[in-house]
Amino acid sequence: MVYETIIVKIEEGIATLTLNRPEVLNALNDQVFNELAEAASKLAADPSVRVVIITGGEKVFAAGADIAQMANASAVDVTISDNPSHRAFQLIETMPKPVIAAIAGYALGGGCELTLVADIRIAAENALIGLPEIKLGILPGAGGTQRLPRLIGQGRAKELIFSGDFIKADEALRIGLVNKVVPTEQLAEEAQKMAKRFVARGAVALRLAKSAVNEGLRMDLEAGLQYEHQCFNLLFATEDQKEGMRAFLEKRPAKFQGR
Ligand code: HXC
Repeated sequence: MVYETIIVKIEEGIATLTLNRPEVLNALNDQVFNELAEAASKLAADPSVRVVIITGGEKVFAAGADIAQMANASAVDVTISDNPSHRAFQLIETMPKPVIAAIAGYALGGGCELTLVADIRIAAENALIGLPEIKLGILPGAGGTQRLPRLIGQGRAKELIFSGDFIKADEALRIGLVNKVVPTEQLAEEAQKMAKRFVARGAVALRLAKSAVNEGLRMDLEAGLQYEHQCFNLLFATEDQKEGMRAFLEKRPAKFQGR
């Protein structure tokens, strides 16, 4: 598939997926969602890809779902659509490898919600994040009412959802919406730096660690602990576990093969 609204670049195990509709501040229409879904399933299945970075570049992440596309939709149109945002976001969220959102400029509405399906969010100093849907007479319909409270707690999430206000990077950091804030011109480099740390780890352990966190959050604590234990046990069947522990005992860095 030739992508028109996103750019996918793969280098040294790191795939960078760049949103590319600058004329509308990377507004997310169905084509973007479909291309994101296609790219996510390809990157998930590609063993040469170890980490995925999603970004919009240094100016804007995404100013939300495409309002021009939604403006005249009827309830029936919205109901019978195959919900491309949900499909794309689910594929990204369940990607069996780390996903980092590198956010500069606006990350609003569906743009903010896209960052919430990443595992880790890095914000540039110029980032402005918010869920302005309420000002359009709708609500965050791409996971914002569900994933945001799970990430930052319901009080803070409701304030953002009810007000539609944008917050700056330092406030996003303070409330735990992003993991770190970096100078804008260093955003790409900082995302790469973090991605490289993950590339050096064992791919199977990473995959199961992500699954243990994500699946565990859907379960009660006892079931989550049981699931974690199964994931832990399974790793003793990998060469990486043998190599990791042998390397520790031999006082040398481990060389993981991802099997
Ligand atoms: C379509 C958009 C857009 C959007 C910006 N543009 N955001 N087009 N959908 N979400 C377009 C503008 O129409 C304009 O096109 C161009 O991008 C530049 O935007 P301006 O508004 O001129 O820029 P500026 O004055 O700098 O204001 C930036 C802004 C503002 C504050 C980000 O654009 C804005 O408020 N955008 C909408 C944000 C929003 O409400 N997002 C939530 C959407 S709902 P022209 O042709 O005039 O140059 C949503 C629901 C998700 O996300 C759940 C369902 C999947």
